[in-house]
Amino acid sequence: MAIIEKIHISKFRNLSDQYFLPSSSINVIIGNNGHGKTNFIESLYYLGHGRSFKTRNLKEIIPFNHQQIQISAIIDDKKIKINKSREKNTVIIDDKKITSNSYLSQLLPIQIISPDRGFIVGGNPKLKRSYLDWGVYHNNQKTIETYSAYKKTLKNINALLNSSNQSQLEGWLNQLSKLSVEITKERFVYLENLSLTLKQSLSSSFAGLVEPFFDFVFTLQTGWPKEVDALDEKSTSEYLVKNKNTIVKTKHLKHGPHRASIDFYFNKQSESYLSRGEQKKASIVFWMLQVLLLVEKEKIPVVLIDDISSELDEIKIKSIVDFLIETNTQIFMTDIGNKELPLNDKKANRFLIENGVITSL
Ligand SMILES: Nc1ncnc2c1ncn2[C@@H]1O[C@H](COP(=O)(O)OP(=O)(O)OP(=O)(O)O)[C@@H](O)[C@H]1O
Ligand SMILES: [Mg+2]
Repeated sequence: MAIIEKIHISKFRNLSDQYFLPSSSINVIIGNNGHGKTNFIESLYYLGHGRSFKTRNLKEIIPFNHQQIQISAIIDDKKIKINKSREKNTVIIDDKKITSNSYLSQLLPIQIISPDRGFIVGGNPKLKRSYLDWGVYHNNQKTIETYSAYKKTLKNINALLNSSNQSQLEGWLNQLSKLSVEITKERFVYLENLSLTLKQSLSSSFAGLVEPFFDFVFTLQTGWPKEVDALDEKSTSEYLVKNKNTIVKTKHLKHGPHRASIDFYFNKQSESYLSRGEQKKASIVFWMLQVLLLVEKEKIPVVLIDDISSELDEIKIKSIVDFLIETNTQIFMTDIGNKELPLNDKKANRFLIENGVITSL
């Protein structure tokens, strides 16, 4: 169970050098436009991922007039320290330098709902894959090795396609087929588990949110054409070998798990027919199911919700908060503070953010 006990933001966007002692339950950060709410949410996300959900460009995150970002935190008695500049990148956990960001996400699984990241229902395949694989990874951390082997294989294939000697191509394509089947299997299993969780949660405290979504279906697009059985290594490798000439000509592999996606259906209608508001609601249901599934496995993530009242109406906020309180999740939510949020006051810690400085209310 991940709980952020203490945060030291030293250098991150407009945020001042400050310590922050969150509650292990609900933390509400209120502030006007441009004072640093999203920056704060982004800094927490950074702690769990070693990267931003808003940009790949480090320069944007480094505070004006500085050369680096610097944040640290205590999470379940472990000390994380991130220090990044254009020259060096150090992530230290308990005085040990780590080389892979997956250690960070193991320590701090984070689920985020933010308009800046985009909504999964109606979203692009890349965003869909990132939420999907977040779930696959946290439900079975061993998959990280398969994913990383797949990434390397794909990189090798791309390098070969751009070289003059392709004698080894077939061997790499076979390797890709093997890893592709493993990844696709994990993704299917994960989505099936989510569907089961949806069915089971219809009668729980989650009901307020889920009921209108009784017929909410998500199906995996494997990244392979329909005629290929993506769960069969022979079928995928035969397809690749058959299309080798085209792959060589286009220097591009346009099939495989790196092109997968999820299709959402709501009352038998495709997601593209949903209104923006309905897509938002369906996205939130999907995210909450992802949290619920992890909670069932006792791997409780930290939940970040940016700009809560612009994303959700009062009833939805209340059912999400009630649900999350029951699961003992630590929540960080930001709000502009125009109206009172329907929160359980005993549990919510309120903070004000002004010009990048957070104070307790
Ligand atoms: N690298 C940086 N260094 C310093 N300031 C930055 C940096 N990047 C962004 N800012 C500033 O941080 C301020 C706060 O941005 P943020 O997106 O966190 O605001 P917000 O409170 O979420 O506002 P809104 O309610 O409009 O979403 C902005 O004025 C922005 O210009
Ligand atoms: Mg914002």
